[in-house]
Amino acid sequence: ALTPQFDEFKAQVSAVQLAPPPYPKTEIWGYDGMMPGPELRIAQGARVQRKLLNALPQASSVHWHGIRIDNAMDGVAGLTQAAVEPGESFDYDFVVPDAGTYWYHAHARSFEQVARGLYGALIVEEAEAPEVDREEVLILDDWLLDPETAQINPDFTSAHSRSHAGRMGNFVATNGQYGLAIDVRQNERLRLRLINAANARIFVVDIAGMEGWTIALDGMPLAQPQRLGEPLILGPGQRADLIVDVTADSGETAHLVRLDNGEGMSQVALTVTGRASAVRRDDPPALPSNANMDVPGLDNAVPVRLNIEGGAMGRMQSAVLNGERKSFRDLVDENEYWALNGTVGMPDAPLAGLALGQTVKLEISNDTSFPHAMHLHGMHFREIGEDATLGPLRDTITMFRGETRTVVFVADNPGDWLFHCHMLSHAAAGMMTWMRVT
Ligand code: C2O
Ligand code: CU
Ligand code: CU
Repeated sequence: ALTPQFDEFKAQVSAVQLAPPPYPKTEIWGYDGMMPGPELRIAQGARVQRKLLNALPQASSVHWHGIRIDNAMDGVAGLTQAAVEPGESFDYDFVVPDAGTYWYHAHARSFEQVARGLYGALIVEEAEAPEVDREEVLILDDWLLDPETAQINPDFTSAHSRSHAGRMGNFVATNGQYGLAIDVRQNERLRLRLINAANARIFVVDIAGMEGWTIALDGMPLAQPQRLGEPLILGPGQRADLIVDVTADSGETAHLVRLDNGEGMSQVALTVTGRASAVRRDDPPALPSNANMDVPGLDNAVPVRLNIEGGAMGRMQSAVLNGERKSFRDLVDENEYWALNGTVGMPDAPLAGLALGQTVKLEISNDTSFPHAMHLHGMHFREIGEDATLGPLRDTITMFRGETRTVVFVADNPGDWLFHCHMLSHAAAGMMTWMRVT
């Protein structure tokens, strides 16, 4: 069933029971007072009309992550729209061209606003979805809470959060719940829509003990469902749609998400509590395909290079900060920082000016000692693998230290499109750039 569209959508301060009692409620910022915000579920091709009412103490905006959207509706405060001041509103009005798992989140001071809870799922349903017994949307996040009071630690801009691996939380939750456990039945076929809404934490999804397929990444269906074998890495901003067949026996538990830091803590556990409730399906699931997967003109693609600099491994000598060139030493003394092609923060000029319809080959080098989750707004890219094969369509690429990776995309959406690290404190500390498509 499709939820009715609601007109108003209020970003406000509220309190939710995040940490279990006897901890008090945690003051969060949420949409309509909820955390995660209300799930928006609509049909492919439908129109979304949503009025953001800003009842927060600071300016905000809403970004519809992964949607191939009109630039004016992309929600980037300071680039595609003016920030919505407290007490003001903004009308978002757009059509969703592709089915898939997307999300929406604040895009003004996102390192603070997303960390305070301003996000929710945006599910665009396929006209013909694979048949499953049950569907769950699982939004993964980690919160930085004061261990005494369970309130959000407001120090979003600490040097440590802005540098290193980003702002790591100490309370990992799924849909706002610690250690989420889902009861399942033998033979049940589940569709799980995973969204990594964490500020910087990379989750590793593993399905040991049950069978499954990845059917979509970042909302975009895979050409062929991939059997789950190797653990799946989900960096900040990334999504995965999984089909899981409950093959375990009654009483057994499968842990779907463990942490990347070796703590071995389970975030989503599927426990088989009942006897077979459904007939085991043997057919692999299939999703109807979405956007055109073709990347024409690859041989004549415009090359764009992006170097990620900063951190201990960087060979950076100097960088431009607020229009002024600073030495490496001065930058270290004054900031924690990251630079993209020698510029810290949003440059005045775009990284590339692209002609509409042009094919772009973007080579990204991570010349730092930390991982980064590089996200492109408004368009999707495919990675060129070592053997020149093209990977799935995605909107975010998780890169580890020292890696160089190449993605290609067709610049088919006019406007100014942000490209930034989705480790949100990294973005705030310099890892932002943009491309102009005209
Ligand atoms: Cu999900 Cu620029 O963001
Ligand atoms: Cu985005
Ligand atoms: Cu980063």
